[in-house]
Amino acid sequence: MGSRPSIPVVLLPRDTVAIVTGANSGIGYETAKYIAMMGAKVVLACRDEQKANEAMRRMDAEFQEEKRRNSLNIIRDNHLSVEFMKLDLASLDSTMKFIETFKAKYNRLNLLICNAGVYSKNKVMTEDNFELTYQVNYLGHFLIVAHLIPLLMKSGKDCRIVFVCSEAHHKAKFDVNLAEHGKSNPFDADSIYNNTKLFQIMQMYCVDKILLDSDVEVCCVNPGTVDTELFRTALPEGQPGVRKFCMDCFGQIKTPHTGCATTVYAAVNPELIGISRGYYKHSRAAPSWPSKTGRDPEYQNFLWSCTRELLKKYIPPEIDKLLDITINVNNKPKN
Ligand SMILES: NC(=O)c1ccc[n+]([C@@H]2O[C@H](COP(=O)([O-])OP(=O)(O)OC[C@H]3O[C@@H](n4cnc5c(N)ncnc54)[C@H](OP(=O)(O)O)[C@@H]3O)[C@@H](O)[C@H]2O)c1
Repeated sequence: MGSRPSIPVVLLPRDTVAIVTGANSGIGYETAKYIAMMGAKVVLACRDEQKANEAMRRMDAEFQEEKRRNSLNIIRDNHLSVEFMKLDLASLDSTMKFIETFKAKYNRLNLLICNAGVYSKNKVMTEDNFELTYQVNYLGHFLIVAHLIPLLMKSGKDCRIVFVCSEAHHKAKFDVNLAEHGKSNPFDADSIYNNTKLFQIMQMYCVDKILLDSDVEVCCVNPGTVDTELFRTALPEGQPGVRKFCMDCFGQIKTPHTGCATTVYAAVNPELIGISRGYYKHSRAAPSWPSKTGRDPEYQNFLWSCTRELLKKYIPPEIDKLLDITINVNNKPKN
């Protein structure tokens, strides 16, 4: 790893426990692998056990190769400490099962990396009757964060929540319907995806208020344009990945390996201890500004209240009390 300076590599305390959602492919795969190579126990929160097992085999093989190359700052254990835990973010029941399974097994959590994401070109409703992209990218992660904040808060110094966001949030026009009901009308795949990334930014600002007096920090990252399977439904059949689409649009594209750098940076860089609400891109220390809408407290409060309402059934009173950081907004923001 010494030959890849863009990815910060530090040895982590050996009792570090991390969750990476969507860790079987793309940016999440590389992020989970690097954090495990630095010494953390990493829970791969994925919906498909077979894909996760295959990912863990591949991670371990790549780890053996890194050891052979004498890469610096990685552990010398025989194997990586990685584990599959089932999580289907498109189902609130599955998301709750994941939360319960994790809490039953671990009494600490140092890094929570909300990475999993989809871009659904077609209208797909989940079993909970929400737009698929909305539930996977935003709502499911909201539930996980809400339930695991207490554990993060008692897991010692320097715990972090990282949302894998996107520059696409700049293009979002705040969708009141989506915020209020988890549905968009009329359906617009781009707008829903962009809004979910905007919602993550807003969630970061609200979560930060809960974490003010804690050792837990929260931030968002923009990984850049990365050659993954994310836009698989948006491409013509037989066109795997975003490569051609992005080459046409932007002229350059990162591999998942380089694309994970900003997430890893935000998760482990010791220079960021005590720094919250960062929005990082291109692995740079200096955070940049998320969009003006993302920073708007009126929109943030509205979204926060709506999301709490939608998840009422899944949030027990002690967690709800923790989430009680905003004033109820009577006036809806204008769409
Ligand atoms: N690629 C880019 O250019 C780019 C740019 C900006 C932001 N991002 C963000 O980066 C994050 C990672 O995406 P990626 O580019 O690495 O794409 P990816 O390779 O398609 O990875 C997405 C991951 O999310 C998982 N996932 C999808 N639906 C899920 C569900 N219902 N429950 C649990 N996991 C689910 C996928 O699992 P399966 O393999 O089972 O589908 C996969 O592991 C996303 O949040 C995305 O919005 C990507």
